[in-house]
Amino acid sequence: MGLIHIAPGGETFPTNPARSILNTLLAGGFPIDTVCGGRAQCGRCLIRVRSGQRFLSPRTSAEEARLAALGVDHSEPESRLACQSHARGDVEIEVVNLRGRKA
Ligand code: FES
Repeated sequence: MGLIHIAPGGETFPTNPARSILNTLLAGGFPIDTVCGGRAQCGRCLIRVRSGQRFLSPRTSAEEARLAALGVDHSEPESRLACQSHARGDVEIEVVNLRGRKA
């Protein structure tokens, strides 16, 4: 068990490896954006991982496909979809899109 740290801002949320980062943040009231509800289709839950990448689940094939559509490739391992990422230790992330804010 660890914490998801939001940067900047400093909010923290306990990790739950059975729950995606998207669902962990939403359950905690953090306004991360989603259109598809966590099905790797919208890309709105894009995050940048500042530290703790080793504590994240590997990219799924659905995540790889959506990231590629967003122009993200393997040279940017810090870019992840929160809906496809599960943390099992301390991670620090930036949330790219907040609910109600246009990209
Ligand atoms: S919530 Fe839509 S891609 Fe993650």
